[in-house]
Amino acid sequence: MAKGAPPKRLSPGQRGRGAVTRTGIFLAESRTAPYACDQFASSVAFGNSGFPANLEESMGFWKGWILGFLAALVAAAAAVFCYFDFGFAPVATAAAPMPFERFLANHALHAVVARAAGKVSPVDPTEANLQSAATVYRENCAVCHGLPGEGKTRIAQGEFPKPPQLLQGKGVTDDPVGRTFWVVQNGIRLTGMPAFGKTLTETQLWQVAELLAHAQDLPASVKDHLTRLAPGPALITLQKPPRWTHAVFPSG
Ligand code: HEC
Repeated sequence: MAKGAPPKRLSPGQRGRGAVTRTGIFLAESRTAPYACDQFASSVAFGNSGFPANLEESMGFWKGWILGFLAALVAAAAAVFCYFDFGFAPVATAAAPMPFERFLANHALHAVVARAAGKVSPVDPTEANLQSAATVYRENCAVCHGLPGEGKTRIAQGEFPKPPQLLQGKGVTDDPVGRTFWVVQNGIRLTGMPAFGKTLTETQLWQVAELLAHAQDLPASVKDHLTRLAPGPALITLQKPPRWTHAVFPSG
């Protein structure tokens, strides 16, 4: 438009059909554009409220948006299906996490355990309780979560997601003990973290949760119990005496 020339008046036919508007916005004319987009663009360009005036127009307007929305949903679902079906999704434990995987997993876990966090422990962190917990930990947890001053076990290195080293550094010492109790009792789905709710007693669960909460200020005897070389797991986990002991010691 030449400098100083009066603004070009638009004929009614030009309005909303693609033209150089008074404000200088260029709307590409597109006879094939869906009605709703056309309507929306023209209403924006001419400073309307953005909504069609009568019922019939309004129906068309919303129909266009709803159809567009449904088409976008179908396209997104198809893209997700192809991602998994064509083998793009990581399945090996060594592979990088999927897009949003960490966020979604953490978010879901956080939402559930937040409710358990307020539970008050019926077990005090006395030396005797922490000693019992250290035995439970050595037998059931150390294989994945490690012992103080030791490197990660082979099992820990091969897992995804990685089990945190709970007795080194901060661990879960800053978590409410009720949260740790919940995790040990129920496990964490689709990770290596088992549920111990059916295999440890409620007292043992609280004891081990207390142990982890006090991992940074454990009594020397408990630390010693955790770091001392233990006999092989077969000896520790022996639940029943072997059969021959019944014959030798009938009362046992
Ligand atoms: C077979 C391996 C394995 C064993 C055995 C195991 N865990 Fe885990 N644990 C994991 C993994 C893997 C995670 C991490 C899960 C995740 O990232 O969501 C985890 C997570 C945890 C967490 C949550 C840590 C955090 O940062 O929130 C706690 C607490 C925990 N384990 C305690 C225990 C206790 C106590 C035991 C023993 C009674 C135990 N685990 C036994 C693999 C194991």
